[in-house]
Amino acid sequence: MESPRKFICGNWKMNGDITSVQTLLSDLRAAPQKGVDMCICPAFVHLSLTQSVLPEGFFLGAQDCSAQQNGAFTGDISASMLKDMGCSHVILGHSERRHYHAETDELIASKMAAAHDSGLVVILCVGETLTERETGQAEAIVSRQLKAALIPSVTATNTIIAYEPVWAIGTGKVASRQDVETMHATIRKTLDKYAGMRILYGGSVKPDNAAELMHAPNVDGALVGGASLKADQFLAIIEAAAV
Ligand code: 13P
Repeated sequence: MESPRKFICGNWKMNGDITSVQTLLSDLRAAPQKGVDMCICPAFVHLSLTQSVLPEGFFLGAQDCSAQQNGAFTGDISASMLKDMGCSHVILGHSERRHYHAETDELIASKMAAAHDSGLVVILCVGETLTERETGQAEAIVSRQLKAALIPSVTATNTIIAYEPVWAIGTGKVASRQDVETMHATIRKTLDKYAGMRILYGGSVKPDNAAELMHAPNVDGALVGGASLKADQFLAIIEAAAV
């Protein structure tokens, strides 16, 4: 089967204000329009602004959603609200949600069902901590997270997997090409029923390592944190994936 187009997604996390978001979006208008799918996931409060001036060729995504459809859930945002706002994608199961909000595999699976119900594409994050890697559990942890997420609504096109080793997020430490290849091959094997599903790598992706990572086998794009907040760096990563 032919490889899918590369998918480069910026996760802005809890960063930015109206002025910086406007500047960043304006600078991203220079993005190449050649065969790469691009997505940006701003904070909830910047979704409306981002949607109103979304640069050509970009999808709009959110960083989380509720497992509930609607109702008395103060502070939560439903998948249908995101869809209504113009989102096509939502990141779920990010390690920062798993860690700071104690999100379990079970809760993440319920959120995925809600997101699919509303027609959103889920970017599901999986990844091991440093201790888990050092104790030889990396593949077992990632397989557990992945299998728990393969609910009946999952298809090859409504779900994207992002392998984000927790120890590589925001640390400047990148997984070696060998580690990435090994883990992505394991993930691909687990996804054998879903031909063509994309598997992204995330964790300190920068312009200087993007080309090598993006062209490793079974790597179909990147989920980018810090470098997606700087237009020149994010554009360079997109360029690297487009080659
Ligand atoms: P960094 O690119 O800042 O390491 O963040 C990765 C990430 O968590 C993307 O979701």
